[in-house]
Amino acid sequence: MRGLSDPFHPSTNPAGYLVLLVAENKLSWPLLKAKMEKVGEIPDWVSGYGDLRGEDNFRTQVAKMMEKSFIGAPVDKECIVAQAGAGSLIDTLCWCVAEEGDVCIIPAPMYSAFQNDLYARARIRMKVAHTKHPEYKITREVLEESYQSSMKEGGTPKILLICNPCNPTGLIYDEETLEMCVRWCAEKNMHFISDEIYGNSIFPDVKFTSVAKVCRRLNAGPSKGSDESNYLGNQVHIVSGFSKDFGISGMRVGTLFSHNRDLLSAANNLTYFQAVSNHTQWILSQCLADEQFLQNYISDVQRRLYVCYKGLEEALAAIDVPLTPAQGTLMAWADFRKYLPELTWEGEKQLWLELFDKAKILFTTGKSCQSEVPGFFRICYAWPKATDEDPAIAMKELKSRLIKHFAGAKK
Ligand SMILES: Cc1ncc(COP(=O)(O)O)c(C=O)c1O
Repeated sequence: MRGLSDPFHPSTNPAGYLVLLVAENKLSWPLLKAKMEKVGEIPDWVSGYGDLRGEDNFRTQVAKMMEKSFIGAPVDKECIVAQAGAGSLIDTLCWCVAEEGDVCIIPAPMYSAFQNDLYARARIRMKVAHTKHPEYKITREVLEESYQSSMKEGGTPKILLICNPCNPTGLIYDEETLEMCVRWCAEKNMHFISDEIYGNSIFPDVKFTSVAKVCRRLNAGPSKGSDESNYLGNQVHIVSGFSKDFGISGMRVGTLFSHNRDLLSAANNLTYFQAVSNHTQWILSQCLADEQFLQNYISDVQRRLYVCYKGLEEALAAIDVPLTPAQGTLMAWADFRKYLPELTWEGEKQLWLELFDKAKILFTTGKSCQSEVPGFFRICYAWPKATDEDPAIAMKELKSRLIKHFAGAKK
């Protein structure tokens, strides 16, 4: 709270806190804001009830954007449900596909709020599957170990939930890994949720493959039993939204893409409780319909993210801290083990507090991301105020504070 009320600003508060734990992208908001301000007169229909899962034109525009950008496979607007945030859709999915007491396996390091999304209403328990430093690969062995251990503890895993590109590591899972996850879930009769909320937040020239593309290759075709209308099957579901790639977490827009008709129907029903405002849908539809704007916007986001990431790389290299080489998202995973007073969770907490108190730097602790070992921090590099000319200005400040803080410390 102290950090959030006194944040760094390059000109008005250069000595403020460098708050690097908020998973939000503030770099391209001026561009989107300018577009939103120009979309025109508010139509009358926005003031009334409508199709709660999302207005027809909104779902059309969202499906088109998804298809052409990160999904890379046909997306039918009838298979989209919009709700107030991606978190809301994870809650809905858990409520629909599992029972109280069932288990969801999540590879770690992981996005810490997943646990609440699963449990707050649906009462689904989390089982962490620890992937291994430094590559953090999801393997069959890692999943199987977590599955067996959960069964021994008396909880049946019903869901595998991954985040791709991954919060917190910034890594992208390759096609083989996704295929293995799809097959493994089918064998175990589990649902597979791929959270692709960072699907467009990838660095220029990096390739991202959605699980949709993998499923289409595996399932669509006359001899394979599915076609373009149901290639995801009944047990693979994709969650995404506008909070990250479009930096509008406050507008609360998340999307579910699924081919499971029963699930879609149940989700439609639950959407009454957490729908997206018609006004927001309308503004976004207008922005998405402008293809040239959209294309420029996405490449602007990717370019700015990469500039900041390079700035972060440079800041950490200056104090000799290894960084997991990220391919996207707006966060990265840094190995501060050499600076821990002791290699324990208490040591990690001490270093975190020291950086907060003395250098006014705020990271997310590895412990809260379910890291297997102490000493790692998640760093969100796209939140602090930047300038148009220099998106990485906060990363330069980070570099000078880190150098000052660790001057003379062990290396
Ligand atoms: C991986 C992931 N999924 C879901 C969410 C929640 O998104 P929303 O604000 O749209 O509910 C976040 C937010 O940080 C996230 O990082």
